[in-house]
Amino acid sequence: SSPEDALSGESLKDFISSLPSREGWPQTLIQYKGYWFKPGMLEGVLRTRRAFLPRADDVVLATQPKCGTTWLKALAFTVATRSRHGLGAADHPLLTRHAQHLVPFIEIPGAGGGHVDTDTLPSPRLLATHMPMSLLRPETRSLGCRVVYLCRDPKDTLVSRLHFENKLVARAGGAGLSMDDAYDMFCEGFSPYGPFWDHCLEYWEESVARPDTVLFLKYEEIKSDPARVVRRLASFLGVPLTEEEERSGVAEEVARMCSFETLTGLEVNQVGGVSHGNRVHVDNSVFYRKGEVGDWANHMSREMGEKLDRIVQEKLQGSGLVF
Ligand code: A3P
Repeated sequence: SSPEDALSGESLKDFISSLPSREGWPQTLIQYKGYWFKPGMLEGVLRTRRAFLPRADDVVLATQPKCGTTWLKALAFTVATRSRHGLGAADHPLLTRHAQHLVPFIEIPGAGGGHVDTDTLPSPRLLATHMPMSLLRPETRSLGCRVVYLCRDPKDTLVSRLHFENKLVARAGGAGLSMDDAYDMFCEGFSPYGPFWDHCLEYWEESVARPDTVLFLKYEEIKSDPARVVRRLASFLGVPLTEEEERSGVAEEVARMCSFETLTGLEVNQVGGVSHGNRVHVDNSVFYRKGEVGDWANHMSREMGEKLDRIVQEKLQGSGLVF
């Protein structure tokens, strides 16, 4: 741990304002232990390092924003709770609550649709985080908490990020960011929770070293065979599909319930929103845009795509992780 792990209140704010900062994204980003954060998010990260108490049976869904967090939350929640919430039930939580609110973030208060106190949740807890592995509490590792990490093609992640930021900015009445500017910053590793590659690499290496505790997934593989990922998730979470469930098509049903088409068709995902502690208002609908693989080609040139691929390839070289 570090001395700043003990800080709270004004001294935490003072510490944050003493860190390197850089302009470019709609909010100034602050650099901490090699990663870039929006100030409110960094406060949450440091609060989590001080106060969050991992439990051995926690399951943590870890992502970088825009890699498919909402989708993973929907899938993992539906799989993990299927004995409690029958898949065909008219009152299934997925039908009336935003997937983002079904699984609370450990470092973002309010994003769970109300200030969920993770300490009071019954075990086993299903939790989410955007935090890099190296910033999670050390107990997450020493207790053997299970982590599901989801990443995505960096080009699509960047395009999704740009649209998300610009929707937030437009809602607040500000001017948007251009693709060219966002691209240059992303390529330098300067993006919220970035560098993109370091975040992926930390979880990747852990998943190679300890595959029982870290399941590494890619957005594109869920897209190409969601039912297969549902089965993998169920096994990893310790609730594998039974033969009866296989026969009755449970994997396919979970995939259908969590699909982009199903979720975007629900009223809860079209109206309403959440105000975060840092005064940012996020509409529920903003977490659903296109939900496709390869949309980058509609927003950047082939040369830009190739250059970003080369940068990421170089950073990941020798790790076995490829996009
Ligand atoms: P696009 O902007 O490319 O459409 P996050 O949840 O991490 O913020 O990621 C948001 C991205 O995941 C958006 O990508 C969004 O459309 C996509 N997404 C959300 N729900 C999805 C689902 N059920 N299936 C596929 N993609 C989904």
